[in-house]
Amino acid sequence: MKAALLGFGTVGKGVAGIIDQGRDKDTAGLEIVRILKRTPADDPRITLDYRDIEACDAELVAECMGGLEPAHTYVRKALEAGRHVVTANKKMLAEHYIELAGLAKEKGVRLLFEATAGGGIPWMAALRRLRRIDDVQSFRGILNGTTNYILSAMTDAGLDFGEMLKKAQELGYAEADPTDDIDGYDVRYKTVLSAIAAFDAAVRPETVPALGIRHISAADIAWGREHGRIVKLIASGEKKDGRLSLYVMPQFLPDTDVLARIGRNFNGVEAVSTTLGPSTYIGQGAGRLPTGHAMVQDMLTIAKGEEMTAYEAAAAEVDNSRVEKRFYIRTVKPEVFAGVMAEAAGTGAFVTECMPLIDLLALIGQAGDPELFAAVVAD
Ligand code: HSE
Repeated sequence: MKAALLGFGTVGKGVAGIIDQGRDKDTAGLEIVRILKRTPADDPRITLDYRDIEACDAELVAECMGGLEPAHTYVRKALEAGRHVVTANKKMLAEHYIELAGLAKEKGVRLLFEATAGGGIPWMAALRRLRRIDDVQSFRGILNGTTNYILSAMTDAGLDFGEMLKKAQELGYAEADPTDDIDGYDVRYKTVLSAIAAFDAAVRPETVPALGIRHISAADIAWGREHGRIVKLIASGEKKDGRLSLYVMPQFLPDTDVLARIGRNFNGVEAVSTTLGPSTYIGQGAGRLPTGHAMVQDMLTIAKGEEMTAYEAAAAEVDNSRVEKRFYIRTVKPEVFAGVMAEAAGTGAFVTECMPLIDLLALIGQAGDPELFAAVVAD
């Protein structure tokens, strides 16, 4: 099958490399005929003009440009033209899923997005496979490699957040502007897409509460250690009694929890489904070849005409009203939390009684402390 590639950065180069070199594998059935790039390069397939993509004879478009525009417009145009699309663009797809999936259905083409969450881990494929037999009841996972690298290194070396962020940037794990990673927005998009695959529920990204790790300190990590816990940034989703809960928060996990053991920049995610129970998937959550691998798997699914259960996601609302947890809070405004405080947790920090997440979020808003750190103390 002939394919056009939109974007030739880290992921695009991974996709092209895997296809161009995989001549003795199934990938021999794929050919990249055109590549859209921002700057000229020494490859006859490369163009700077999207009209060349529209004019080429590709049946499939692989989008790995990132960002909302022009990626959204280009994907919409590709679907309108009756081309299959695979994308690695979590932000664009989380924002526009309903529109684009509707268009794909209308045109009778596929829209696949394995590379958007969990990088190289076959997370979307696992959810699809589970759902051939089961209902998925819940998921939880580490879906951001940058923050897992930072948290793992802080836990192992006792260093502070600023030092580890700088090191992650030097190693190329964190962006120059790491906001999306460390404030939880990257995981929020991945949570939205996981909910589509797990529950057929498409929610607005901004309705998923997302708290990140920007203000975690070595003292917070040390408190966890003293209590047999390891902190991870966790995406949580559950569908129960018709209610859909979704949120992103750091969590102090018991150190025996399988997710607590996932170190370095790896991702790990667990689904709980009706007959299988918990199943966990671990691997490289980012990077050129792992993410390229996930995209090429989607391309092969389409090229080989593999029938996988199609998602029929409909617009849905987040309802976190049943989520009740104990929370660890460090803030310069402890008086705001006086009514829910259960025990001190070292200087400036405390643990709350078991309380609703939505009440905690209201108190955090009321406190208005820009350096507050909050985490779930998991059971
Ligand atoms: N910045 C992201 C991460 C890239 O670290 O997981 C992959 O989505």
